[in-house]
Amino acid sequence: MYAGLKHAHSGLRWVVLALIIAAIVNALMKASSKEYTASDKKLGTFALIATHIQVLLGIVLYFISPMVTFGEGWMKNAASRFYGMEHLVMMLLAAVVITIGNAKAKRATTSADKFKKTWIFYLIGLIIIFAGIPWPFRGLGGGWF
Ligand code: HEM
Repeated sequence: MYAGLKHAHSGLRWVVLALIIAAIVNALMKASSKEYTASDKKLGTFALIATHIQVLLGIVLYFISPMVTFGEGWMKNAASRFYGMEHLVMMLLAAVVITIGNAKAKRATTSADKFKKTWIFYLIGLIIIFAGIPWPFRGLGGGWF
């Protein structure tokens, strides 16, 4: 179960990134002139759902992954500090920002405002997610897929 979840969590990152980027680009391109339609809403919601599923997988992994260890000096070790604290805090924060953006877009009254709320909040979330991913070149034990 651990290996399967780890691969799912690793692979789903690409779906999450692609959907968030798609929602941002879509909102930016339509921000000044287009009407906000059901398909725009769907794109934002799909990105939100993918992010939430990724967070749920991450929470399960947190309890079973050997990368999460709280032994003596875990805060002094870059990898155990990353998986035990930094990754969790950054990704939860990103998910909260995207969730707030989605809610704000829903509540906004004009199309322009809905697009604006979407791209600003999703972009902040995307930047935090990029910074919180254990990319292979960071030497934290993460892979590309
Ligand atoms: C949008 C949110 C998230 C993204 C994009 C994400 C992405 C990733 C990626 C790419 C890896 C490396 C996987 C690999 O190369 O094998 C990873 C590992 C991990 N993530 Fe996340 N993550 C997210 C949220 C979370 C959350 C909220 C938690 C915990 C509550 C979490 C816990 C973990 C753990 C424990 C590992 C280490 C797995 C292992 O190698 O044993 N993740 N995450």
